[in-house]
Amino acid sequence: MKIISVKASTEYNVYIGSGLIAKTGAMLAKTVSPSCTAFVISDENVFRLYGERVLESLEEAGFRTGTFVFEPGEQSKNISTYGMIVEKMAREKLTRSDVVVALGGGVTGDISGFASSTFLRGIKYVQVPTTLLAAVDSSVGGKTAIDLKAGKNLLGAFWQPCAVFCDTDTFSTLPEAEYLSGCAEIIKYGMLGSRELFESVAAMPVSLQYDAVVAKCVDMKREIVENDEFDRGGRMVLNLGHTVGHAIENRSGYRVPHGMAVAAGMCVITRAAENLSFAEKGTTERLLKVIRGYGLPDGISALACYTGGDLSVFSAESLSESAMNDKKASGSGLTLVVPERAGECALRTIKKEEFIDWLRAGGVK
Ligand code: NAD
Ligand code: GLY
Repeated sequence: MKIISVKASTEYNVYIGSGLIAKTGAMLAKTVSPSCTAFVISDENVFRLYGERVLESLEEAGFRTGTFVFEPGEQSKNISTYGMIVEKMAREKLTRSDVVVALGGGVTGDISGFASSTFLRGIKYVQVPTTLLAAVDSSVGGKTAIDLKAGKNLLGAFWQPCAVFCDTDTFSTLPEAEYLSGCAEIIKYGMLGSRELFESVAAMPVSLQYDAVVAKCVDMKREIVENDEFDRGGRMVLNLGHTVGHAIENRSGYRVPHGMAVAAGMCVITRAAENLSFAEKGTTERLLKVIRGYGLPDGISALACYTGGDLSVFSAESLSESAMNDKKASGSGLTLVVPERAGECALRTIKKEEFIDWLRAGGVK
């Protein structure tokens, strides 16, 4: 088992390894007194697969348990589910001595974290990520949120978990698309800050090296969060590929899954950076080889399968317009994460109206 200690506004450990789900209770008891209630929040898919094992392990360790299980998917990450969660927490008479256990992917982690940050003005929670994406990204760093009708993640709080238990065995039951989505985020970590990780996932599938890869990404995220917990600057590097990626998701009416959009977005921005002489020659070719090796989309034309062949929704004009409405665009500026070579990137603030030139330089028509 690997242990990574995150020193943010609160300090906590991220435990990564095989078989941890069955030890949830014993591990939690090292952080929180087992005389309290552990309230497990999960979606139906994850609860069916792992719920019983987690509850058994919590009860064996002495915790009283409660549960809230919701319908899987982003459409549940909303005010209505949030309301049902906190009402159930109140009915169970949870106090600030109790603890929430977020068992699942990023949707579960985000909504459980947000419920924990607001219930009784803040109670403890632990993350038990079961998707690759949640393991390498959303379970660490304390960003919690739900979606509003006006957009994704618009209601949230920074609220750090008191521990993260990542059982890498759980990835064996992930649907292929969820596995690939996580791989796109891992390639992103390699591109933005670790040539070694980039080469490693290029040479060997992520599925053959889960523990090492998750630990490397979590350690990178640890450093980024420790330096900029509240997202005022350096944490933005985690958005590599996301400005274009979010615009792709939005323009497709969310038919293009997040990981696919990020992969395509990363290819567009890298191609633009190379064509505009910000990135070393050959950077795009290196990235495309890895992206294609995983069967991820290598640019806009690879997304035709999601829109019945219609690529006009992803024109430079429409992607640019969509990016202007992104919550990360501020005033007249847009901060881009620009790759300089595999393993290195820089933040570059451009005028909003220049973004369309970047898209065109990235091969978007
Ligand atoms: P998700 O939680 O919806 O999980 C994806 C699907 O996989 C769901 O259907 C789920 O039921 C299923 N699943 C989860 N674990 C499984 C397993 N082990 N076996 C079989 N099926 C399993 O989505 P996600 O991709 O994990 O997370 C996406 C969410 O994360 C988005 O809402 C995004 O905004 C958020 N996010 C947050 C942060 C952050 O820092 N807080 C960072 C990145 C993404
Ligand atoms: N996933 C983006 C962040 O944690 O900042």
